[in-house]
Amino acid sequence: MENSKDRGNIQVAPEEIALQYKYMNDIKEINASDETNYGRKKKVFLQSFGCQMNENDSERLLGMLSEMGYIEANKAEDSDVVIFNTCCVRENAEEKVYGHLGALKKQKTDNPDKIIAVCGCMMQQGEVVDHIRKKYRHVDIVFGTHNLHKFPELLYRTINTKSTVIDVMESAGSIAEGMPIERKDAIKAWVTVMYGCNNFCSYCIVPYVRGRERSRNIDDIVNEITVLGQQNYKEITLLGQNVNSYGKDLGNEISFAKLIREINHIEGIERIRFMTSHPKDLSEELILAMRDCDKVCEHLHLPIQAGSTRILNDMNRKYSKENYIELVSKIREEIPDIALTTDIIVGYPGETEEDFEHTLDVLKKVRFDFAYTFLYSKRTGTPAAKSSEQVSDEVKKQRFEKLLEVQNKISKEINDKLLGKVEEVLVEGLSKNSIWNYTGRTRANKIVNFKGSKELVGRLINVKITGTQTWSLEGEIY
Ligand code: SAH
Ligand code: SF4
Ligand code: F3S
Repeated sequence: MENSKDRGNIQVAPEEIALQYKYMNDIKEINASDETNYGRKKKVFLQSFGCQMNENDSERLLGMLSEMGYIEANKAEDSDVVIFNTCCVRENAEEKVYGHLGALKKQKTDNPDKIIAVCGCMMQQGEVVDHIRKKYRHVDIVFGTHNLHKFPELLYRTINTKSTVIDVMESAGSIAEGMPIERKDAIKAWVTVMYGCNNFCSYCIVPYVRGRERSRNIDDIVNEITVLGQQNYKEITLLGQNVNSYGKDLGNEISFAKLIREINHIEGIERIRFMTSHPKDLSEELILAMRDCDKVCEHLHLPIQAGSTRILNDMNRKYSKENYIELVSKIREEIPDIALTTDIIVGYPGETEEDFEHTLDVLKKVRFDFAYTFLYSKRTGTPAAKSSEQVSDEVKKQRFEKLLEVQNKISKEINDKLLGKVEEVLVEGLSKNSIWNYTGRTRANKIVNFKGSKELVGRLINVKITGTQTWSLEGEIY
């Protein structure tokens, strides 16, 4: 491993990171003097609209903000800084952001000192930035996914010049290590292991807004997780748009399988999860590593997207219905009790009833524990958006309902089989459920509600399953 730094990706220069720390310190001083004048700490409201990687980026922003002396608020109204970390994977994610931004206009008029920042994947699209510049003039800072670490500098410029700062890097930059982070949770942590995506699935905007694949150096990842272990974190989820291709850009000796074997030794960490895995890159080497590593949980999120090979080809997914089913049986041979979850898109352009039947057929053959289902959403700039065979909203909705009906029945049947079994549960905290006061997850990532107590939080306990729902389980401490 000594040489991994030499082979590694280009990192943001230490001087650049040091400069950002200087800006953080300058803002901290401004905030400290404001605190003396106004008698209260500066507050920030930050909302994420996207996936786990988006949330992990927000944790980095919160780390920087905390370093600058800001405390987190629950509402935009009483905050000095408001940040929206946006997503553009589907149209409804974008609409939500515009809705929230519109609502801030009055707040900005009432309090011109309020700083409004928007960042994330949506901002990597030129037309979005233009639209915000013209229609949402109350926005002060716009930045993208490739220069997140520069946020302290951008904030400093806005505070000092009181003018709008727009800084979006078009192409993917280098990896920034050593910036602060403030994690939402004290038990489970996300660790991004790679950025970007090279796959260009025909419906998907992610490769355009996140750039090409860049893997973090293995030493940086191992060090981050070692610290998490020391801080009493029990579970980590390794994140990447396609984690299976981790290391391909670093050199031949490094692979995702090797990475998890390495992480499996880290003291304190009890559970390892990862997402997302692309079926075309799920190697035998990885299946064996999952089987051998005791901390890797028996759960795999393996998006299939569609059941019809014709549609899969058109989607540029690079596997057939049969390949996928075969892959699942290989995985189950090595890890028989593995829980499988997936993503499915309905109403992809040109999808016929017959194509859709193949999707239902895969659900019945594979029997996923859970499926995240999406209505196809047209994304400007992607090949699928140009197709003249768009499926009507009505047909999409009908198929969506049917899919849910079939999947929910399967999910419930799988959960019913757990009745009476004793499962290892990592206790997360209070439950939203009124009868069962505590909640946690099994290694298969299933939610279990049970009667517990405060001192169990963060511990692994055995729970006997006494009841099942479609999306959760109920149990008693065993
Ligand atoms: N990199 C991951 C997930 C990326 S986005 C992967 O490859 O699986 C999460 C999910 O959003 C995708 O799996 C897909 O099911 C869905 N998705 C992506 N683009 C979409 C679109 N244009 N319309 C509807 N769903 C989409
Ligand atoms: Fe999008 Fe496909 Fe990349 Fe996933 S693998 S992020 S679906 S292009
Ligand atoms: Fe959305 Fe960007 Fe994640 S588009 S799904 S926030 S990578």
